[in-house]
Amino acid sequence: MTETTRPVGDATKVVLAGRRAEWTRGVGEGAIVSPPVWRASTILYDSVGHLRDSATRDTHHRLFYGRKGTPTQWSLADALTTLEPGAEGTFLYGSGVAAIAAALLSVLSPGDELLLVDSAYDPTRGMANGLLKRFGIMTRFYDPLIGAGIADLIGEQTRAIFMESPGSLSFEVQDIPAIVAAARARGVTTLLDNTWATPLFFPAIGHGVDLTILACTKYVVGHSDAMLGSVTAGPGHFKALRETSFQLGQIASPDDCWLGSRGLRTMAVRLAQHQSSALAIAQWLEARPEVAQVLHPALPGCPGHDLFMRDFKGSSGLFSFVLDGGDDASRAALIDTLELFGIGYSWGGFESLALPVDPHRYRSVTRREVAGPMIRLQIGLEDPADLIADLDAGLAAFRAVRG
Ligand SMILES: Cc1ncc(COP(=O)(O)O)c(C=O)c1O
Repeated sequence: MTETTRPVGDATKVVLAGRRAEWTRGVGEGAIVSPPVWRASTILYDSVGHLRDSATRDTHHRLFYGRKGTPTQWSLADALTTLEPGAEGTFLYGSGVAAIAAALLSVLSPGDELLLVDSAYDPTRGMANGLLKRFGIMTRFYDPLIGAGIADLIGEQTRAIFMESPGSLSFEVQDIPAIVAAARARGVTTLLDNTWATPLFFPAIGHGVDLTILACTKYVVGHSDAMLGSVTAGPGHFKALRETSFQLGQIASPDDCWLGSRGLRTMAVRLAQHQSSALAIAQWLEARPEVAQVLHPALPGCPGHDLFMRDFKGSSGLFSFVLDGGDDASRAALIDTLELFGIGYSWGGFESLALPVDPHRYRSVTRREVAGPMIRLQIGLEDPADLIADLDAGLAAFRAVRG
């Protein structure tokens, strides 16, 4: 059973989505549970007539040539579209950054202006200041807490507004409904990097966002073993996204898409655990004297917390905290003492990670003063009590070096 006539919850949706009968049947009787890995470059035709006929038809969910995908990619794209009620379609990419690039290029042309949130992921900023600039697209950065005030920044040339909520280092939550309303009133397209919340905690298309982007590398894959990105388009935006992506030659590997589909089946239960463990640890850190501030959207101290409470259905496993005093050396002592936290980029996998972060390095128009060095934690699926014991040892090492 992969379809239901009754409305279902998110955990049921991620189990059913994308497992269409035509992708799981076809060899003898019965059906397999998950669409398999179909690897292909060449697609063979029955005759010259068949080949020519095929070239005149839309390739959506039809074998044509490997770059147009196989049921393995279509299944994951279909599942991600299902998770965004109101969406038109999803295109998949070999990384989250590739997804961001294709989404932006599907909207922007030379002479256009992009409004980009100042708390955006650094490679998104790099793309605006590099590739987009080279092609004559100018970027203006804006305060993540601007809300309806974005209307004052929208000018004649403004074509798109890019949001990331919360920011993945400093965790400001944006007023997405207010920004979407201001954009719509002026015919401006909105894009959101929704990697932190996923459609399960923030269904972006339903909130009026035009193009919602996931670094599927994080919670969709969920096991730190594949790179993948997606863009899901709202009404009127899929055609341009698909055409731009084809023209860029974008295709995600079937093996990685299969890992994405496998990860998706458990995403709801993983996110529930990431949420409860991260909240427990964030609250424990808040009570520690060595910690000046915890930046977790579900906690009142986080900028935009009220918006989080209004708009989001849950919180995931990534947040930052600010140490009370200390310097880079005492911060490094803390992180180096941890035994259960890996030191590395990325997040969203089953394992915990700790990273020194300095968000002020990646700002153009806003700066938030903090009391000391910052650490970002990705809380994995380990026992939270074990992670707390590990952090306790880390804080002792921090105290010893800080003095
Ligand atoms: C918020 C955010 N968006 C996008 C990306 C890019 O994803 P990828 O590493 O798959 O290119 C990342 C990666 O860390 C991220 O943290």
